[in-house]
Amino acid sequence: MRTDTPPTIYRKDYADPTYLVDTVEMGFDLEPSLTRVATRIFMQRNPAGSNNEIVLFGEELELVQLRLNGKVLRAADYKLAGGVLRIPGAPAKVVLEIETTTRPDRNTSLMGLYVSNGNFFTQCEAEGFRKITFFPDRPDVMAKYTVMLRADKKAFPVLLSNGNLIEEGDLPDGRHYAKWEDPFKKPSYLFALVAGNLVCQEEKYRLKSGREVLLQVWVEDGNLDKTQHAMDSLINSIRWDEERFGLELDLDRFMIVAVGDFNMGAMENKGLNIFNTKFVLANPRIATDIDFANIEAVVGHEYFHNWTGNRVTCRDWFQLSLKEGLTVFRDQEFSADMIGTDSGRAVKRIDDVRVLRQAQFPEDAGPMAHPVRPDSFVEINNFYTVTVYEKGAEVVRMYQTLLGRDGFRKGMDLYFERHDGQAVTCDDFRAAMADAGKRDLKQFERWYSQSGTPRVAAGVHYDAKSRTLELTLEQSCPATPGQKKKQPFHIPVAVGLLDSKGRDMPLRLDGEKSAAGDTTRVLELTKARQTFRFTDVAEKPVPSILRGFSAPVVLQYEYSDAELAFLMAHDSDAFNRWEAGQRLATRRLLKLTTAVQAARQSGHVVSFETVLGNQDQDSALSDALRITLRDETLDAAFRELVLTLPSETMIAEQMEVIDPHAIHIARQFMRRTLARDLRDDLLAAYKACGTPGEYSPDADASGKRALKNVALSYLVELDEEEVLTLAQKQNDEANNMTDRLAALGALTNSSAAGKAAALEGFYSEFEKEALVIDKWFTLQATARNADVNTVRTLATHPAFSLKNPNRARSLIFSFCNGNPSAFHALDGNGYAFWAEQVIALNGSNPQVAARLARSLDRWRKYTPALQEKMRHALQQVAASSNLSRDVAEVITKSLSN
Ligand code: TRP
Ligand code: ZN
Repeated sequence: MRTDTPPTIYRKDYADPTYLVDTVEMGFDLEPSLTRVATRIFMQRNPAGSNNEIVLFGEELELVQLRLNGKVLRAADYKLAGGVLRIPGAPAKVVLEIETTTRPDRNTSLMGLYVSNGNFFTQCEAEGFRKITFFPDRPDVMAKYTVMLRADKKAFPVLLSNGNLIEEGDLPDGRHYAKWEDPFKKPSYLFALVAGNLVCQEEKYRLKSGREVLLQVWVEDGNLDKTQHAMDSLINSIRWDEERFGLELDLDRFMIVAVGDFNMGAMENKGLNIFNTKFVLANPRIATDIDFANIEAVVGHEYFHNWTGNRVTCRDWFQLSLKEGLTVFRDQEFSADMIGTDSGRAVKRIDDVRVLRQAQFPEDAGPMAHPVRPDSFVEINNFYTVTVYEKGAEVVRMYQTLLGRDGFRKGMDLYFERHDGQAVTCDDFRAAMADAGKRDLKQFERWYSQSGTPRVAAGVHYDAKSRTLELTLEQSCPATPGQKKKQPFHIPVAVGLLDSKGRDMPLRLDGEKSAAGDTTRVLELTKARQTFRFTDVAEKPVPSILRGFSAPVVLQYEYSDAELAFLMAHDSDAFNRWEAGQRLATRRLLKLTTAVQAARQSGHVVSFETVLGNQDQDSALSDALRITLRDETLDAAFRELVLTLPSETMIAEQMEVIDPHAIHIARQFMRRTLARDLRDDLLAAYKACGTPGEYSPDADASGKRALKNVALSYLVELDEEEVLTLAQKQNDEANNMTDRLAALGALTNSSAAGKAAALEGFYSEFEKEALVIDKWFTLQATARNADVNTVRTLATHPAFSLKNPNRARSLIFSFCNGNPSAFHALDGNGYAFWAEQVIALNGSNPQVAARLARSLDRWRKYTPALQEKMRHALQQVAASSNLSRDVAEVITKSLSN
């Protein structure tokens, strides 16, 4: 265990910077093994600062020389310790000149300046700029940058940085240079440079204002056949932000660069977005429908950051959700608007809520739980979380739900009017919304300060005589680390009432003159318990509560199976229509899981199949699914979502004590049962949902493929020759990656004779496409018959490398997070493997290692036998030497909370 426990940083300790920077001039002499960086910083004492000490951060740098106002500083003139360089007693106006060197080709952390496949890239968010030079590397120090890049012309013909290219030319010795100037003030985390052998697709685009801008997508040679979708997505993003929010691209040139080695999805550096190849490269041969959709979302996300993040940035990293929650909300709305139809929007909403429940709810219930605006951290990289991003987006969405679309837009306008060019806080955003909407949003702050997923318990009482319906809502929130007691949240609860025919009833709240036209009402729950009275309610309704998932809470309401089936068939709110099916399925799955556990306990089980099969068969779910499957008025994409059972992780979340094996057996049993019950309808849907002709990733075609392929995945459960032949045929004939991968997955999870050959064929066909080989690894790591030995063997495959984050994720993360019953094998071998991989990654890439470390953070929720083995693995990692701050924080919190 490391002896120097890394310090915790607290939000309450925020202090203004002592010096502010006006301009920065940088010169880079780029060499992979040793790059020289000369930085000139023009700075001034900050009147709001508390003293005259200049504070600079620098890590893994060789300091060559430091000059202040032209005078070389000697060691006695400054203090350098623990990555902080302090120059006390500095004058009011300072020109600081710093010469440093770094070793990009040895930088495996992928933060700061690094080399990927021979080209240079940077990643500075959150605190990577300090690995490039000494600097007041904090987001509230904003400055204008001029950057001179010099490199060998043959090896690095392309030299890019933020802003505009103002000069380029040749130098002696086969070198050349390019000078870039960014006209906008920015925090250092938005700095970027790229140098290498790259090519681009470019397009000129005319903004609404008439100004013409140059758009470029840069990739390695040979990938220009995969950039069109990213380019289209960028153009759509630019147009959408003009239309929906009145926000214009403020640069004449906007670049996207794809890199194969990247820790996260993409980065919004000013004018020079750097992307993981996974979120740029696509064509029908290599990318699935989901990839196409993700690319659109991520291109949008990074582009939208140009206003929400870059023009208005964060005062400190505790405010991260100010830009991330808001920008995720914006990219979600963008994707929804791109589909356009109401049902398409609902499908998008369901997808987003699924992510939230699958990943964020568990985080909020575990040892790493933190508020959307955290109060403390050890390593900021560990707080790029689903809570900050996805729950943060839900919090922003609630403003829109409370204020309406127009009210929200007014709030956004006021936010930019007040804060353009500033580094601000989540409170500033909330104030803009409150002021523009003339609303008191004081209590709403608790969404930022309190962690944990609130519970809303609903109860209804209908009185036929007075024709009134009382809806009582009661909220609570479980304790989370450091927060025992919670105060009530301000929760918008969208409600509708269905009559016995399934139609929406008019809504009139007690005290209202008449029923307003809308049949969905947003109730505002602000107290621990509140009762809302609807009057003029002609008959006893079935309530549809939390329509559209109007708040990130768990709704507790005891629907009967019949009511759920009724809502599935009739609710005008598509989200709740889907939700009813999920509730019905979850209820049944939990019953089956308990039955598996009981059977196992009784000892004399021949096969679970027999035991479960003897359970009196409950056809409510099959019947409801059949109706949905046959309803051609519903989008295929929606029907696919209804047919998809809650994941094993989702079921686990519903259990007091998680038993991954019982869950797996129960869910598999249910899949087989449904496949049998719905066989003919599944086959009919499969046949009806072909997408002949040229591939298009649009919502209609991708929805059809989704439904067709979920049908196939059920059908192969039956192990019938006819179905296996279908899968084989689809594998052999597919003209796009969506169908190909689905068929390969179906074969792999079946007893088909040709499955090994199919896997091999896939590999050799796509050997040169790294992103497809990632899929090949993932498919095998999550296959039904995979165990830790499968994964260990795959890890020795020549194409495997732990150094490439995408590849590491494709195999290791997919197994640990995506194959629960195999990962949680009773012998603990999955955990031993996990510990080895965390320790190995810790040495090369702490940020990625810390993500993997999170796979065991909910260990206390599992059965005692598994808990014991998990604790052992966690302690093994804790005891290893040279733990990074990143991994140490995750492991320490996992073991202590
Ligand atoms: N700001 C980026 C985004 O969400 C996140 C990001 C990309 C990032 N790369 C990173 C954060 C590296 C930390 C470290 O769009
Ligand atoms: Zn972002």
